[in-house]
Amino acid sequence: MTNKKKPLLSVRDLSVSLAISRGGGIPILESVSFDVAEGDVLGIVGESGCGKSLTALSILRLLPKSAVVTSGQILFQGSDLLHKSESEMRATRGNDIAMIFQEPMTSLNPVLTVGEQILEAIIYHERTTRLAARKRAIETLDIVGIPSPDRRIDDYPHQMSGGMRQRVMIAMALATNPKLLIADEPTTALDVTVQAQILELLRKLRADLGMSVIIITHDLGVISDFADRVMVMYSGRVVEESTTRDLFDRPLHPYTEGLMRSIPHIDEDVARLHTIEGIVPSLGEWPQGCRFHPRCPYSTAACKGAVPELVGYAPDHSVACVRYEPSKQPRSQLASR
Ligand SMILES: Nc1ncnc2c1ncn2[C@@H]1O[C@H](COP(=O)(O)OP(=O)(O)OP(=O)(O)O)[C@@H](O)[C@H]1O
Ligand code: SF4
Ligand SMILES: [Mg+2]
Repeated sequence: MTNKKKPLLSVRDLSVSLAISRGGGIPILESVSFDVAEGDVLGIVGESGCGKSLTALSILRLLPKSAVVTSGQILFQGSDLLHKSESEMRATRGNDIAMIFQEPMTSLNPVLTVGEQILEAIIYHERTTRLAARKRAIETLDIVGIPSPDRRIDDYPHQMSGGMRQRVMIAMALATNPKLLIADEPTTALDVTVQAQILELLRKLRADLGMSVIIITHDLGVISDFADRVMVMYSGRVVEESTTRDLFDRPLHPYTEGLMRSIPHIDEDVARLHTIEGIVPSLGEWPQGCRFHPRCPYSTAACKGAVPELVGYAPDHSVACVRYEPSKQPRSQLASR
């Protein structure tokens, strides 16, 4: 966490629990900390259920009713979003931070034209006239690569392909020039060619508009293509964080190593593709100590004690694993893999 650039967003020790009826709760996120610098792309990666979407929803204060923030700070341009009123948060959503949700097909309203939906966002946030908002909506549809945007603006979502609908979702998110765009699995539901087009579009928009992006994915290929930094999550915690180049050159956490080995290579025999053995522990059934120990090839008794903290191991590279805790082992023996 030693990114030298000025942070736009700084999440500190964020913990979220699933509220249960009588006292206490089940932890979903624990001590999640990360920064997103101005103009940077942060990739969040991890297997299903590790807390990627809930991290994003916490930032926007859109957590499901059953989930509560139990501690932490979410500093956006220095002020804590957790202390804002609901009306201040409504202004922040859209104006400053926009999100492309994980289910693009269900996030558009089927009974409104795409234009009506984009206009609604622009008029709400910028209090502009309908005519000016329509002009702006057409420009935004053009930016995201919708052909003949002045005609397609009056289409209903069902008249568009999946790729076009995803472009509309991106247009809606961009219509108010947010400083931070959160894209939760923006390409998962799309076929491979359209996936590549949407990623290319996000890359271009980020360069042209200079916004910061958080991209959430289970696909390390997407991360290597697009992100400046990467945060790897496992069972509600950050287990590794670094620049993308460093993570790919030298993954430290055994879980990251496992994820790396799971990336399919064109020249690889699919039948021999490596997967991480074992399953992600269910909520409320997280093991003592390091959450990954039942699946980790390097696990020792030391791993079943306290949960390893995320510590800086190298400049700009943090990891949460006893193998890299200087107090547990001499540095000369570290990472002798
Ligand atoms: N509304 C909810 N009520 C109860 N539990 C929830 C709710 N939403 C998510 N969870 C649980 O919280 C944990 C984290 O969920 P989250 O959606 O953040 O995972 P994710 O990393 O985004 O996974 P995926 O890759 O499948 O999208 C999971 O165990 C999930 O089952
Ligand atoms: S703390 Fe132990 S079990 Fe956890 S990742 Fe490191 S070596 Fe593996
Ligand atoms: Mg998710």
